[in-house]
Amino acid sequence: MIEKIRILRETALCKIKEAAGSAEIEELRVKLLGKKGELTEMLKELKNMAIDERKLLGQEANALKNELSESLEIKFKELSANDVERSLSNSSSFDISLPGTQFKVGSLHPVTIVQKEIERIFTGMGFNIVDGPEAEEEFYNFEALNIPKHHPARDMQDTYWLENGSLLRTHTSPCQVRAMQKYGAPLKIIAPGRCFRNESTDASHENTFFQLEGMMIDKNISIANLIYVMKLLLSEVFNRDVEIRLRPGFFPFVEPGFELDLNCMICGGKGCPTCKHSGWVELLPCGMVHPNVLRAGGIDPEEYTGFAFGLGLTRLAMMKYGINDIRVLNSGDLRMMEQFSIR
Ligand code: PHE
Repeated sequence: MIEKIRILRETALCKIKEAAGSAEIEELRVKLLGKKGELTEMLKELKNMAIDERKLLGQEANALKNELSESLEIKFKELSANDVERSLSNSSSFDISLPGTQFKVGSLHPVTIVQKEIERIFTGMGFNIVDGPEAEEEFYNFEALNIPKHHPARDMQDTYWLENGSLLRTHTSPCQVRAMQKYGAPLKIIAPGRCFRNESTDASHENTFFQLEGMMIDKNISIANLIYVMKLLLSEVFNRDVEIRLRPGFFPFVEPGFELDLNCMICGGKGCPTCKHSGWVELLPCGMVHPNVLRAGGIDPEEYTGFAFGLGLTRLAMMKYGINDIRVLNSGDLRMMEQFSIR
């Protein structure tokens, strides 16, 4: 090993000395000291050695690491100085009065921005982020969610079927059952993702949109827990204290099921055109997980209870940024998308 270190030192120093450009130095740095670099690999071998040997070789290897990064830096500075000098002296290629080259900086999609914000809030409360397939099995999208074959509730979600019998998921709720099967109870997850429905498109309907599913299961979870988590989430998203109310709502996989309304932030609840003069805007469906769904996930409903919600990420992004036509979100029109960039 000590011999290996010595050889590595000699060849490395020699290569650094002979390097002709700053790019070459960068390449060498990655090759030697990068994550999969030669020296790094060598350091990894140390853990299999006896303690005395490890100590001695460790010191040698670390000294070499310092020596190499120092000479790489010195050589890099030297070469970059040469680069600048060369371009300055070559007057035909350097006209300081010309405008510089503009580099386009990318920006995040508004839905991504909102998704990240919500992920931050939930991970702060100890939730895990999980994922599920966009081409989903019928079982997870429907049966396991207490929507049997031929049940009229299937008509609520116009589905794209695939030739092999699976489908494009119509909501993120299949992730509930997948997560229960994988992790069991207690469980705290969110599952953001793309969903598809066979909709005719208009300003508020798209065939492709984003939802964020949430689920919490433990002993003695009640509607009070649901209300608390929802209030906390919404006051963080909208940056103010929010009032919410629950109305009964039907979804086969929750019982009781609710529609959660938020007091209108335009008029503060007094009534205005945005909230159709009711003082409330419908925001998200939620409810207590149906015992059949817990069973499908392998969890005993006698022992555990839970709540679930389905947040329309696309809708929330539209509300937050005042976007009034859903179609622009999938249009790929940069003039639109760039306005929301976080740089
Ligand atoms: N999956 C439902 C939908 O897309 C929403 C929902 C999720 C309702 C979780 C209740 C609980 O319509």
